Amino acid sequence: MMSSPKDVADWQEEIVSATKKTVCGLYDCYSEVYNKIVGSFQDDGHRLTISGICALIPNKSSRILDFAAGTGLFGKILHSNGYTNIDALDGSALSIEQAKNENIYTKLMVEFVEDKGLSIDNDSYDALVCYGGFAYNHLPVTVLSEWIRCVKPGGYIINSFRIKWMTNCPMYNEGKLETEMERLEKEKKWTLISKDVTDADDDTCVVMYVHQVKKFHGQTTPLN
Ligand SMILES: C[S@@+](CC[C@H](N)C(=O)[O-])C[C@H]1O[C@@H](n2cnc3c(N)ncnc32)[C@H](O)[C@@H]1O
Repeated sequence: MMSSPKDVADWQEEIVSATKKTVCGLYDCYSEVYNKIVGSFQDDGHRLTISGICALIPNKSSRILDFAAGTGLFGKILHSNGYTNIDALDGSALSIEQAKNENIYTKLMVEFVEDKGLSIDNDSYDALVCYGGFAYNHLPVTVLSEWIRCVKPGGYIINSFRIKWMTNCPMYNEGKLETEMERLEKEKKWTLISKDVTDADDDTCVVMYVHQVKKFHGQTTPLN
């Protein structure tokens, strides 16, 4: 068991030392203190993301998947803005346990995302939101086509994360993440609706991508 982080800097140092295999274990270790140390420094990104969601999704009973939900920090914001039909998925079982205590989710799923399909039916959700799921050694870019599979045609995918990871993280840098987004657009799987950034320095700037799902053509497990 790793020691508890003291502050955000401590936390960030730990995150970049994690590998793809150990990252959810690290969140397990930090699940009890995560909200206290990380929650307070996300305000601008949270504001950008929730205002985008409220503008796009007026129906508060829309079925929403909070992807990489962790302890439920962003889920609480969705809930306090009136959304009542939210599911959560994360690879950290102990974070999901914390999220369960918030009593805001309909269904909670522990699933570690690798390069294979998720155990979610096609076209299950009106929208999928992922806050902070793209970070050092976090979600693989192949998850994007799985998100499209899980969201209904016409539904929205809202993906917010620290923009620095697009250049600092080998899983996404040198255009890997943008190339995958564009490939899916060329294949008419989704359309980019907007890309916004918070007004912050390079270290803390959050980018929010909003895509609308067009059509899913067939396969049940497209990543295999
Ligand atoms: C920065 S936290 C964000 C949590 C939450 N969305 C929030 O706003 O506080 C990133 C989350 O991604 C999850 N995660 C990272 N890599 C993952 C993977 N490969 N599969 C599933 N979850 C993953 C972690 O367990 C962690 O809870």
